[in-house]
Amino acid sequence: MQETRTLLVTGGAGFIGSNFILYWLKKYPESKIINLDALTYAGNLANLRSIQNYPNYTFVEGSITNKELVDNIMDDVDAVVHFAAESHVDRSILDPGIFLQTNVIGTHILLESALTNNVQHFHHISTDEVFGSLPLNTPEAQFSETTPYDPRSPYSASKASSDHLVRAYGETYGLSYTITNCSNNYGEYQFPEKLIPLAITNIMDGLKVPVYGDGMQVRDWLYVQDHCTAIDLVLHADKSSNTYVVGGLTEDVPNIEIVKMILKIMGKGEDMIEFVTDRPGHDKRYSVNWSKIKTELGWKPSVSFEEGLEKTIHWYQENRHWWEPLKAANQEFFKKNYSK
Ligand SMILES: NC(=O)c1ccc[n+]([C@@H]2O[C@H](COP(=O)([O-])OP(=O)(O)OC[C@H]3O[C@@H](n4cnc5c(N)ncnc54)[C@H](O)[C@@H]3O)[C@@H](O)[C@H]2O)c1
Repeated sequence: MQETRTLLVTGGAGFIGSNFILYWLKKYPESKIINLDALTYAGNLANLRSIQNYPNYTFVEGSITNKELVDNIMDDVDAVVHFAAESHVDRSILDPGIFLQTNVIGTHILLESALTNNVQHFHHISTDEVFGSLPLNTPEAQFSETTPYDPRSPYSASKASSDHLVRAYGETYGLSYTITNCSNNYGEYQFPEKLIPLAITNIMDGLKVPVYGDGMQVRDWLYVQDHCTAIDLVLHADKSSNTYVVGGLTEDVPNIEIVKMILKIMGKGEDMIEFVTDRPGHDKRYSVNWSKIKTELGWKPSVSFEEGLEKTIHWYQENRHWWEPLKAANQEFFKKNYSK
C-alpha cells in the first residue's frame, strides 16, 4: 500500500512510540514522520538511532504543552498519532500533577491545534486502565469498547480525561478521530521500571525480582510489535469516531506466573523472587475482549505470550548497553518504589 501522509507522532522517543516509528518507516518509506518528544526520563533517542538521518524523519524536542510549538509543527501534518504521556502508575502516585499537565492539558493543546490546522485525522493511544479493575477469578468479565469508565489511579484518571476530550472534539467540532485502549505492552525498548524488563534485567544482574503484594494481580499482555500492526490497521480503516480495545491474551496470567515464566526461560530458580509492599489501590485484574478489532479489521496477535517473552528476553540480553545506563540513572526511584 502506498502511504504518503505526514504523521505527527508525539512521544515517539518512548517505548511504544519508537517501536511504532521504526515499524512505520520500514513499512511505508514514502511517508513522513515528525516526532515531537520532550525527552523526559522515559524518552530515549537511542531507540531511533537507526533512522535518525533518514530524510523523511524529523525529530523536534519539545513538549505537547507548548502551544506555540505545537501550532508551528501542525501546519504540514495530515494525521496525529498521539503517544506522548506520563505513563507509569507508580510515578503518578508519587507526583500526580505532571500527569494532568501532560496527559490532559497536552492532549487538549494537540486537539485544538489539529482542529484549527484542519488535520485529517487524530489517533489517540490510550489504556485499558481507564475501565478500572475487575474482580479476580471472573473469567467471563472483560473490558470492551462499551465498558463504562472507572479509573482508579491518577495515571488512569488522566488518560480517561484525555479520551473524553478526544471524543468531545469529535462530537462537538467534527474532528476525525480514533482511539485504541490497549493492554500492558512489553517488548524491545521498554524502560526497565516496568514488570517484564525489570525482571529480566534484575535476573541478568543477579538481583532479586520484586513482586508487589502476593503477585496475584492479573493483566493482559500485548507484544509491542503487535500493537504497532493494530495501530496501522486502525489508521488505514475507513472508520472515524471509533474506538478499539487491543489485547494479546485469551486467558488470565497473574504477575507472579509471568515472573516464574521469565525465570524458567532464563534458567533461574524461584528463590530469585522477592515480595515487596503492594502499590496503594493496586487494581486486581484487567482482561480485555479484543474481538471487535479482530472481526472488523482482521487483527490478531502474531506471537503467543511465551514467544513474545522469549523475543523480549533475547533483546534485553543482546542490548545491555541500552538499558544499563537507564537503570543506573534511576536508582533512587527503584529503591523508593520496590522496597519491603
Ligand atoms: N506501556 C504500556 O504498557 C501502555 C499500555 C497502555 C497504554 N499505553 C499508552 O501508550 C502511550 C505510550 O506509552 P509508552 O509506554 O511508550 O510510554 P513511555 O513512558 O515509554 O513514553 C512516553 C514518551 O512521551 C514523552 N513525553 C512525556 N511527556 C511529554 C510531553 N509533555 N511532551 C512531549 N513528549 C512527552 C516521553 O519523553 C517519552 O518519550 C501512552 O499514552 C500510554 O498511556 C501504554
